[in-house]
Amino acid sequence: MQINPINDAIGARVDGIDLAAGFDDAAFAAMHRAWLDHCVLLFRGQTLTPKQLTAFAARFGPLEPPPASEKDLRDDAGSDDAKDMWIISNVIENGKAIGALGDGEAEWHSDMTYLDIPPTASVLYGHEVPPHGANTWFANMYQACEKMPADLRGAIGDRRALHNSSYTSAGELRKGMDAVMDVREAPGAVHPMVIQHPENGRDALFLGRRTNAYVKEMEVADSETLLDRLWDYCVGSDFTYAHEWQRGDVLIWDNRATLHRRDAFDPSHRRILWRCQISGTALPSAHAD
Ligand SMILES: [Fe+2]
Repeated sequence: MQINPINDAIGARVDGIDLAAGFDDAAFAAMHRAWLDHCVLLFRGQTLTPKQLTAFAARFGPLEPPPASEKDLRDDAGSDDAKDMWIISNVIENGKAIGALGDGEAEWHSDMTYLDIPPTASVLYGHEVPPHGANTWFANMYQACEKMPADLRGAIGDRRALHNSSYTSAGELRKGMDAVMDVREAPGAVHPMVIQHPENGRDALFLGRRTNAYVKEMEVADSETLLDRLWDYCVGSDFTYAHEWQRGDVLIWDNRATLHRRDAFDPSHRRILWRCQISGTALPSAHAD
């Protein structure tokens, strides 16, 4: 097994391993260390069944099954092999979508930070990918902290922010949710804006997503100004990687230390990604200097 950085910013590519065949504890330890150091791991040319994908993902921690609302979309929802697997897809079969998130652009976000305990990691497997488009972008939130101008870091201090749960990353209002009229009252979870990573102690900027975010105990206008500055800084940064999908790619990312987004793609092309999600732990606050 060889592990090499993808670029200076984020990600490492792991070669010489067949995830379907499994691997020993020493290989996993090296992989896990690289995942913590580089935030994103890429394995290419894999051929996996749902059972093999979930077995790989479960090495990183307990899996969170998809919500019932998502399983309802799927014909294989009763299958034991696929019970912990989520489907991300634009494909319509027999008049119904077989997966979530469609074909549009998805805004920068970390997964499900509107929960008190957001997931530790997400895994994606390219089961069917379009010939172009739908790149998945990643941004390194350790580097966001390290390179941040001092005045911006000072403006965050040890503040906490509200992460709203009303909309998906594709901008759709979730079933049963009301549109947000006042960000201070929006449903969701509150997290430190800079967390101390629970496994390696490094400081990471933890933004969740821009839509309806609110910096607690600030006037709304001041919160908007600070959030706009932070997002402009991150989105215009050089600590990113744009992944161009090939069939058989497996990506695993550290949801606590990265943001990701997706480019839109041609809706006439099929895209089916299988996803697993690893349960989280509490996110402590970093110590403001
Ligand atoms: Fe996501």
